[in-house]
Amino acid sequence: IAVHVLNGPNLNLLGTREPQTYGSLTLAEIERRIRTRADALGVEIVFRQTNVEGELVTFIQEAGLAGAGIVLNAAAYTHTSIALRDAIKAVDALAIEVHLSNVHARESFRHHSTIAPVCAGVICGFGATSYLLALDAIVPLLRERAQ
Ligand code: DQA
Repeated sequence: IAVHVLNGPNLNLLGTREPQTYGSLTLAEIERRIRTRADALGVEIVFRQTNVEGELVTFIQEAGLAGAGIVLNAAAYTHTSIALRDAIKAVDALAIEVHLSNVHARESFRHHSTIAPVCAGVICGFGATSYLLALDAIVPLLRERAQ
């Protein structure tokens, strides 16, 4: 089984971007931790990051059509994008929404997600660990689907 870990806008700047909110790990460091966990679980992993909404749509389509699970931090597009929601639905992707920060403890415009209704679940507030929890959660769901 395979999981695509997709990161959206501004997450390429992790490490220096608002570290009090997002922590001081870079995206490459977070990906290294995810890779270690994926290896332990025997899961194939693909990492992609883009600042462009349409590219995230393409990444979701590609993951879904390949039958891979998706761990998705859509960043600010989480709160605005109907296109991302439609993409998940269009390819019947198994996706988990993740955030480093606890979006519910922040500004009200971060409380709503357009993609949560088409995701299997949402994990937020645990920093880099949010991704590891999502990986742990998605693997049994993918195994179930593969049967
Ligand atoms: C984020 C939360 C979003 O509200 C924000 O726009 C981000 C990062 C997070 O991981 O905490 O860019 O998705």
